Amino acid sequence: MHPGVLHRRFLNDLSTSLFSFVLPLLPTSEELNVKEEVRGLIEKLIKTLEPSARLLSFGSSCNSFGLRNSDMDLVVLIDDPNATIEPGNFVESMASLLERETNFNVKPLPRARIPILKLELAPSPALPFGIACDIGIENRLAIENTRLLLTYATIDPARVRTLVLFLKVWSKRRRINSPYRGTLSSYGFTLMVLYYLVHVKQPPVLPNLQRIMPMRPMEEEEVMLEGRNVYFFDDVETLRREWSSVNFESVGELLIDFFRFFSHDFQFNNSVLSLRAGQLTKESKGWVNDIDVGGLNEMARDRNRLCIEDPFEITYNVARTVTKDGLYTIRGEFMRATRILTQRPDRAVLALAELCR
Ligand code: GTP
Ligand code: MG
Repeated sequence: MHPGVLHRRFLNDLSTSLFSFVLPLLPTSEELNVKEEVRGLIEKLIKTLEPSARLLSFGSSCNSFGLRNSDMDLVVLIDDPNATIEPGNFVESMASLLERETNFNVKPLPRARIPILKLELAPSPALPFGIACDIGIENRLAIENTRLLLTYATIDPARVRTLVLFLKVWSKRRRINSPYRGTLSSYGFTLMVLYYLVHVKQPPVLPNLQRIMPMRPMEEEEVMLEGRNVYFFDDVETLRREWSSVNFESVGELLIDFFRFFSHDFQFNNSVLSLRAGQLTKESKGWVNDIDVGGLNEMARDRNRLCIEDPFEITYNVARTVTKDGLYTIRGEFMRATRILTQRPDRAVLALAELCR
């Protein structure tokens, strides 16, 4: 058979295999229900400490990029402007309350840079892996970036969700999704995929939501939160009606090209990935590797190996956890993935299995 035909067939096969790969890894409705019950229960308890407090989910439990048995990310928002609450103290009060009233294993980190409370619930029939959950205080930017990710997913769920979910599984199986061990968070990988779909692919698969302006008067253009512009175009109905991509590549093609782009084309040494603004230089952001760290340790110098600008906290490098070795490993994995997907064009299922081994 002609190599072109074989290749076509492999790509079709790869897309179908990606959907079937991801599907059984999605959370069950039972899991989602239990998690929502747990959230409601904790919220009720927290309201006894501060009646104006609400407890919201963010991260993968509500950006549509959640995998089965993933952690729960929760945040307490205090609505009463007169309530004077110091996050560290509030974490301590929540900890003693939840220790008294629930079966959770409770671990407060009130003096961390961002004070949080860690909770763990032992496994049960409905939740064979238990629940692990982090509760933060007043982190409203996380709610906004969760909404941004969800809106991107909603525009083209079949391609966007499949790509992100697959990359999350792949990065976990290949052990390059450990910010504490020098590699990249799920949030970082997700921003890489969205950057690629908005700024690298021509024609783009997704519009830049932080650049589309409302048809109505310009009042919404800047929405400030904690000194950051958190505006993005979130009118999904209008987007569905008036925006459609003229890029018709399949999810399999996009995946291969994603790996190829980050193996060969992206200039890790001097470029910054910005979902908001496209490719920027490290120099223009002041994120250079060899800043004079004046006797500080290696970690400080390692801060800007991989640079991913947060969509709203634009002075913040989401990939600051990635060390020199970490980046070397991540790039090696992109190359390995490219190799497997381009040199093994027989059965796509087998290629995916090998990719995630
Ligand atoms: P899994 O837990 O691996 O399923 O992925 P996740 O989608 O929950 O991602 P992750 O745990 O990495 O991050 C959860 C949420 O925390 C993200 O959706 C962001 O809202 C927020 N977050 C995580 N890391 C950062 C960061 O470095 N900067 C900022 N501003 N927010 C972050
Ligand atoms: Mg999470």
